[in-house]
Amino acid sequence: MSVTVRVPAKVNVQLAVGAARPDGYHDLANVFLAVGLYDEVTATPADELRVTCAGPDAAQVPLDRTNLAARAALALAERHGLEAAVHLHIAKDIPVAGGMAGGSADGAAALLACDALWGTGADREELLDICAELGSDVPFALVGGAALGTGRGERLTALEVGGTFHWVFAVAERGLSTPAVFREFDRLAEGRTLPEPVASQDLLDALAKGDADALADAVCNDLQPAALSLFPELADTLAAGRAAGALTGLVSGSGPTTAFLVRDAAAAREVAKALRASGTCRTARVAAGPVPGATVV
Ligand code: C5P
Repeated sequence: MSVTVRVPAKVNVQLAVGAARPDGYHDLANVFLAVGLYDEVTATPADELRVTCAGPDAAQVPLDRTNLAARAALALAERHGLEAAVHLHIAKDIPVAGGMAGGSADGAAALLACDALWGTGADREELLDICAELGSDVPFALVGGAALGTGRGERLTALEVGGTFHWVFAVAERGLSTPAVFREFDRLAEGRTLPEPVASQDLLDALAKGDADALADAVCNDLQPAALSLFPELADTLAAGRAAGALTGLVSGSGPTTAFLVRDAAAAREVAKALRASGTCRTARVAAGPVPGATVV
């Protein structure tokens, strides 16, 4: 018997970042939107914990206990006095080290899959607690849809969304490390007093109305200057997507994936084609959101 869970990627339509806290994390106002690019995690009983991964970027995925899927299985097993004797297979389609929370998605998916496989019967609150222990972006991968994350991003409030938003994601030639981008953010912010991060009301209204033009005017990522500082070529990708007719473009989370909001599915196909031809990215993917979070299939 095995259990498979499908889990979406995310884009941050707003990522407001405050000053570094004593614990090294940053307070955030983080508006997440789940989009239809998916990993699938299959949990199968095994003699011991084992992780495998397939997909175009599989070679970049660690298969040891640093993998969030492995850590999720271990955390659930420990809480319930079980052995994490499970084979977790990740069918990976979310860009790796891309700022789309692919690793976090695998953590949430593995947790849900092991809960179903072992009949643990953990309630939603317990699952969300474990997700928050695993990483700041993991709870959102479980709930999906759209949500405002506060604290270090893990405290979620669900948001109403009045329509579907269409996106193109340009996948970069190499990855960026999230801690390195936050360190660069701190370096660039040195000597400045940063305001409390708060969600933009214009942005929340645009989401609620399903208004793509208004959302394009309101998106903002405070990590973008840091990502561009570490990866200056991303400016060319942003320019190429905008020139191809996107309503706006921004770095997704800590990057280096860039996200382009477009008017509809046809525009998404066109912008993706232009980005692929531009030579400024490895590939371009089309996806719409919001979509539901981790789901047993
Ligand atoms: O929570 P998670 O392990 O996913 O975070 C990865 C890294 O990103 C942290 O070690 C930290 O460097 C940075 N981070 C941060 N502030 C946040 C979330 C993440 O500085 N709110």
